[in-house]
Amino acid sequence: MTALTDMVDYEVRGEVALIVIDNPPVNALSHGVRAGMVEGLAKAEADEQVAAVLLVCKGRTFIAGADITEFGKPMKAPGLNEAIEAMENATKPVVAAIHGTALGGGLETAMASHYRVGVSSARFGQPEVKLGILPGAGGTQRLPRLVGYPKALEMCVIGNPIGAAEALEGGLIDEVVDDVFEGGVTFAEKLIAEDRPLKKIRDLDERVNEARANRKEIFDGFRRKIARRTRGFEAPEANIRAIEAGLDMSFDEALDYERQLFGELMAGKQSIAQRYYFFAEREAAKVPDVPRTTPLRKIEKVGVLGCGTMGGGISMNFANRGIGVTIVEAEQSRLDHGFGVIRKNYERTAKRGRMTNEQVDQCMGLLQGVTDREALADCDLVIEAVFENMDLKKEIFASLDRIVKPGAILATNTSALDVNEIAAATSRPEDVIGMHFFSPANIMRLLEVVRGEKTAKDVIHTSMTISKQIGKVPVLVGVCRGFVGNRILFQRQVQAQQIILKGAKYYDVDRVLYDFGFPMGPFAMSDLAGLDIGWNEKESASRDIREILCESGRRGQKNGRGYYVYDAETRASAPDPEVLQIISDFGSAQGIDQREVGEDEILERCLYPMVNEGAKILEEGIAIRPSDIDVIWVNGYGWPVYRGGPMHWGDSVGLGKIAGRMREFQAESGDDFWQPSALLAELADAGKSFSDWSAG
Ligand code: CAA
Ligand code: NAI
Repeated sequence: MTALTDMVDYEVRGEVALIVIDNPPVNALSHGVRAGMVEGLAKAEADEQVAAVLLVCKGRTFIAGADITEFGKPMKAPGLNEAIEAMENATKPVVAAIHGTALGGGLETAMASHYRVGVSSARFGQPEVKLGILPGAGGTQRLPRLVGYPKALEMCVIGNPIGAAEALEGGLIDEVVDDVFEGGVTFAEKLIAEDRPLKKIRDLDERVNEARANRKEIFDGFRRKIARRTRGFEAPEANIRAIEAGLDMSFDEALDYERQLFGELMAGKQSIAQRYYFFAEREAAKVPDVPRTTPLRKIEKVGVLGCGTMGGGISMNFANRGIGVTIVEAEQSRLDHGFGVIRKNYERTAKRGRMTNEQVDQCMGLLQGVTDREALADCDLVIEAVFENMDLKKEIFASLDRIVKPGAILATNTSALDVNEIAAATSRPEDVIGMHFFSPANIMRLLEVVRGEKTAKDVIHTSMTISKQIGKVPVLVGVCRGFVGNRILFQRQVQAQQIILKGAKYYDVDRVLYDFGFPMGPFAMSDLAGLDIGWNEKESASRDIREILCESGRRGQKNGRGYYVYDAETRASAPDPEVLQIISDFGSAQGIDQREVGEDEILERCLYPMVNEGAKILEEGIAIRPSDIDVIWVNGYGWPVYRGGPMHWGDSVGLGKIAGRMREFQAESGDDFWQPSALLAELADAGKSFSDWSAG
C-alpha cells in the first residue's frame, strides 16, 4: 500500500489497482482526496500490469459529498470536476464500490466511473438541495440518464437518498456485493475477463429521448406536486432547470449551465443560511461541560405518565425504535382512549404505505397500558406528561422517587413550569431533567432538553443521546419560563396583538409572516390551536381581543369562526369584517391612534423582539450558543431554514439596524419593551454579530 496523499492510498491486487480513500469521519471530497484520486488514476494508467481500477473507501462510508467546510473559499486544484473527468476519460474501466452513503459529490464521483457496485445497506442520494445548492459536478445530467428523469427529479429536488435495491433496479449500480474490497475486486476482475466496454453515462441517451417525449407531463407535473413543500426555496427550481436543460443542450453545454446555477446558488443568502444550519444542528449535540466520553446510563425500558396528546406521541417514538413503554394513566377510560388514538395514528401511516400492518402490531405490542404507577418501578427512564399543573407534577415526582429504581432518569415534559421546583419534590434532583417534546410528539423533530440546577452530567448525556436515537434533534437549554422556543414565541405574539391595535390588518400580519416563510401567521395559528385554549369563561372580562372573540362564540377552526371564518366543507378561510371592527373598537377604546402599517414595519415589530429575546437568553446562559436558538426555531416553529433562524437572520439584517430601529420604537412609544438587551446593544454598538459571540 502506497500513500498518495494523507487521505488516499494506492495498492495493486493482481490486475486491479485500488484507490483507497481514508478521510474520516465521512470521506468528504477534501483537497487531499481529490488530489489522491487524480494521482491514483494517472498511476494506474501508466502501469501496464493494471487492467482496471477500483475506487473504494475505508471507515464507515463511501464519499458523503464535497467537503462543506471548504465551501465559500477558493477551491484548491484539482477541483472535483477535474477528478471526475480523469475518471470518466480513463482508458481502463473504473469501478466505484460503495458502502454507507454515496451522497452529493460522492454519488457524482461514482457516476463518473464506468461501473458501480454497492453493499445491500448502501444509500445513494443528491442531498445538495438541502444545503440550498444543486449537484455541481454533473449529477443533474448523469443521474437522469441512469435512473430516468422522474426519479432523478425526486432525488435532486427533494434530496432523500434511495437504498441499494432501488439503485440496482434503476441501474444506478450494476451489482450488489457483500464486501466493497473483496466484492469490488472480484467485479473488476470479471470486467477484465469479459473485456467489458468503458460505459460512460454521458453517452446514454435512451432516458433523454423518453423524457423529451413526455416533457410536459414529467416537468409540469413535478413542479405542481412539489410547489407547496418547496415554497420560498430557490434551490429546488434551480435543480429542476438544470435537469431539464439536459433535454435541450448537449451534455457539455448542460454541464456548463449546471455549474453556472451552482455558482449562483452557492453565493446566495439561502445557501449560506442552509449550510450554516447544517453545522448548527450538529453543533447543538455538543455540550461544552458534558464531553462525549461522559458515561451513559442504560435505557432499555421506558415509562410514560399520561396518555393524552403528548404522552401518546412520546410513547410512539420509543416503540418506533423497538423500545418497550409502560404507559400509566389515571383512569382506564383515558388509557383506552389514548391507545385508540395511537393505533389510529399508526394505521394512518400504514395506509400511506409508510409501515406494514405487522409493524403496526409490533409497535402496539411494545406499549403496555396500566393505571398503577408501581408498574414503573423497573423503568430506566420515566417521562411525565400529565396536565400542566405544578401541584400535580410535584405529587407525581415525589411518588416516582419512592417507586422507581435508583439510577433511573425522571423527566418532565412540562412546557413552562420550573424544572428545579419539580426536581426538588424528589430526594434525587440530580436524576431529574426536562424533556420538552413538541406537538405532535411523534412527528416534530425538536426536543428541548432542560437542564436543572442539579441535573447530573450523565443524565444530560444520556437524555441527549436517547433523544437522537429516537430521531429527534435535541437542544440543551436552561430553566426559565417557556424555555427557549416558547419564550421567544411569546414576544412575537405580544407584538402581533399590539400591531393590530395600531391599525395593521390581522390578515396582513399573517400574510407578511407567511411570505417571510413561516407555515402560517400568528392569527391563523391561534385559530388552528383553538382560541379557547387556556380561556376561562367565568373569568373572561373583554380584557383583550382573544377574550372578546371567545365571548362572541368564536373558537377558531374547530367551530368555523375565529379571526377568520372557515368554509364548513373546504376549510378555506376568509377574513371576517366583524373581527376587524372588534379590533378597531378595542384599539380606540384603549386610546391607540390607528394608522396604516407597512409590510416592513410589520416584520420589524414582529421579528426584532424575537432576536432581542434570543440575546437575553444568551446573556442569561439559558442557551449555549446563538445557533442552538436557530435550531430550536427552525425545527420547532417553522422558521424558514433558508433564513437560518432568528439569530442568523438577525446577523444578516445587521444588529446595528435592529438595535437602531428598536430604539426608535422605544423613543416613540416610551415603552421599555423596545429597549435592546445589554448583549444586543453591546454587539450592535461594536459593529459585531451573534456569530462573533461565545459564552464565557
Ligand atoms: N463535509 C464536511 N463535513 C461533513 C460532511 C461534509 N460533506 N458531512 C458530514 N460532515 C461532518 C459533520 O459535520 C460531523 O462533524 P462533527 O462530528 O465534527 O460534528 C461529522 O462529519 C459526522 O456527521 P454526522 O454527525 O452528520 O454523522 P451521521 O453518521 O449522522 O451522518 C451523513 C453522516 C449521512 C454523511 C451526514 O453527515 C450528511 O448528510 N452529510 C452531508 C451530506 C451532503 O450534504 N453531501 C453533499 C455535500 S454538497 C456536494 O457534494 C456538492 C457537490 O455536488 C460538489
Ligand atoms: P392532555 O390533557 O392531552 O393529557 C394529559 C393526560 O394526563 C390526560 O390523559 C390525563 O388523564 C393524564 N393524567 C392526569 N393526571 C394523571 C395522573 N395522576 N396519572 C396519570 N395520568 C394522568 O395534555 P397534553 O397536551 O398531553 O400535555 C401534557 C403535558 O405536556 C403538559 O405538561 C403540557 O404542558 C406539556 N406539553 C404539551 C404540549 C402540547 O402542545 N399539547 C407541547 C409540549 C408540552
